[in-house]
Amino acid sequence: MTQPSNLQHFLQFKDLDRDTLEYLFRRALVIKDRFKKYIRHMPLLDRTLVMVFEKASTRTRLSFEAGMHQLGGAAIYLNTRDTQLGRGEPVEDAAQVMSRMCDLVMIRTYEQDIIERFAAHSRVPVINGLTNEYHPCQILADILTFIEHRGSIEGATVAWIGDSNNVCNTWLQAAEMLNFQVRVSTPPGYEVEPERAGLHATSHFQAFADPLEACQGADLVTTDVWTSMGFEAENEARRKAFEHWCVDSEMMAQANADALFMHCLPAHRGEEVTAEVIDGPQSVVWDEAENRLHAQKALMEYLLLGRLDD
Ligand code: CP
Ligand code: NVA
Repeated sequence: MTQPSNLQHFLQFKDLDRDTLEYLFRRALVIKDRFKKYIRHMPLLDRTLVMVFEKASTRTRLSFEAGMHQLGGAAIYLNTRDTQLGRGEPVEDAAQVMSRMCDLVMIRTYEQDIIERFAAHSRVPVINGLTNEYHPCQILADILTFIEHRGSIEGATVAWIGDSNNVCNTWLQAAEMLNFQVRVSTPPGYEVEPERAGLHATSHFQAFADPLEACQGADLVTTDVWTSMGFEAENEARRKAFEHWCVDSEMMAQANADALFMHCLPAHRGEEVTAEVIDGPQSVVWDEAENRLHAQKALMEYLLLGRLDD
């Protein structure tokens, strides 16, 4: 197998350095501005993205597929059910084959180990479209959204309320990379595992038993589903355990007066967040969802062409 020596993947947030992340946020805003003005921006003509989904998706599929078309390339959707991956073809063999036919791969799967093994056998960049451990593209979009509304996230305080899942782990990695604080509140038994989150230290996050306390002084309050994909067997136990980890107006009142609310979506109103909060004036969830498109276009362009116009 031959892998280019400069091959860059995005398997977790810390795969990119701070300087590159800051470039991507600037670049995403340029690409977004062109998109809004109907200015054609097609640097990826004739490039092909293959998207492999082992779990369901609305936003990730649409943003990658539409994004690749808008950049001038083509996107191909594969899922486990309809491919030989679902019949036991080794992930290493799939990586060899797909990366000879396509220029870029995005995978949504279960264990992080699967995507790491795929990347180790790929000739082309591989993007994590969500694993059990991480969701790096989501946090690119979330921080882009924060920057648009409030400016730099450096020094800001984020409150994470609920499950210490893939999205939470990625917020924690981002806090280390970009120097901000995350105040996390989870029910007992669902706490952050720093090693699983891939953290170097614990200096950028604090854990709180009380979600109200975690929200104090926050510039952003964010949450996610109580049960992530792949953990459905735990649904009933989680509904009981997370009952008091519903972001409501009382929690938002603990945060700064101009605090934003984010949720990666899909959301369950009445579980992890009340309708009043997610549909209220502090919520930026639709900007956040839209920014998946712009952030990932900047990411795909960077992984294939390097830095442009900077
Ligand atoms: N937030 C997110 O990744 O949404 P999908 O599961 O719809 O892709
Ligand atoms: N934590 C959720 C995110 C969905 C976009 C999950 O993994 O199902």
